[in-house]
Amino acid sequence: MNATDPEDFMSTKLDFSNVYSSSSPVPLIELYRNLDYVVPYHVEHFVARLIDRLALRHALATPRVVDIGCSYGLSALMLQQGRQYDDISTVDLELWHHRPETAPKSPTGKTGIEVFGVDPSAAAIDFCQRTSVQRWSWAGDLERDDLPAEYCQVAKQANFILSSGAYGYITERSVCRILDQIEDPGRCWIGNFALTPLDYRSSAMAFADYGYKTEASPFLFPHRRFSSKQERDGTVATLREAGLDASVEERTGYLHTRFYLSRPVEDAVEDLGGFWALELSRHQASQIVSDNRRPLFGEVKLSKEGN
Ligand SMILES: C[S@@+](CC[C@H](N)C(=O)[O-])C[C@H]1O[C@@H](n2cnc3c(N)ncnc32)[C@H](O)[C@@H]1O
Repeated sequence: MNATDPEDFMSTKLDFSNVYSSSSPVPLIELYRNLDYVVPYHVEHFVARLIDRLALRHALATPRVVDIGCSYGLSALMLQQGRQYDDISTVDLELWHHRPETAPKSPTGKTGIEVFGVDPSAAAIDFCQRTSVQRWSWAGDLERDDLPAEYCQVAKQANFILSSGAYGYITERSVCRILDQIEDPGRCWIGNFALTPLDYRSSAMAFADYGYKTEASPFLFPHRRFSSKQERDGTVATLREAGLDASVEERTGYLHTRFYLSRPVEDAVEDLGGFWALELSRHQASQIVSDNRRPLFGEVKLSKEGN
């Protein structure tokens, strides 16, 4: 597998910066619905169940999730507030935007999970803060900046570092800034969705230095429909130039994403095959396809020196 330059790939994608920085979440959710962006669905179902598993293993009463690239807090709406992606409508979001007191907002919601959201979009974080859909929300860019001291205290207790739809904009640099703060890395897992053209090896190596073993889920998850023929052709060409399989993207007309899970080596001895099989059978509707080419990080040398 050749390395794919994230910047080259990200430039073939439709530019969403206008909607990311809108004061209202409505344009983003409209875009999500128009392009059938389904990643929040995977967070609602697969990531939530993984967090349950982590909580059970480490007896965590209130697992704390750091959501990097959280945008308007959709993942928190599901993970913390117990909402369903399919049921989050533009009408709700419009209402919460204008009357934030009507948004669902108990500190740890229905689920006992508390979310700390991070995003460079000041407008998106302003929405999260006004509505309190997350427990904590910070407008900043961990690719460039360290966390302010008050949020270091929050990150200290992190149990799950998540990104959905943000890898490529972010790299391992952002995740490691959170890892640097964590008091007990033995009770934290890292889960990132990364589009298939993105090369995750440098992330897996960086996390290995903190004692984490990385694996890719055995499925490719649909991400969203290609917005144009140009975007589709550009993505397929990027995959092919990197020597990667583009057949799923070509056949389905959807960008696809891998889910990478990094667990402390002591936790990673537990095989997740049964978990994936059970979750898959519960979610046939989500058009997940098996990933015969997933990278096996156990086969690469996971140290920076050996790179
Ligand atoms: C496709 S949206 C995903 C939002 C959300 N995670 C979801 O799945 O609905 C990508 C998000 O990444 C954010 N982003 C861009 N650059 C970033 C950075 N350097 N650090 C964190 N987030 C970033 C954008 O502002 C945007 O909110």
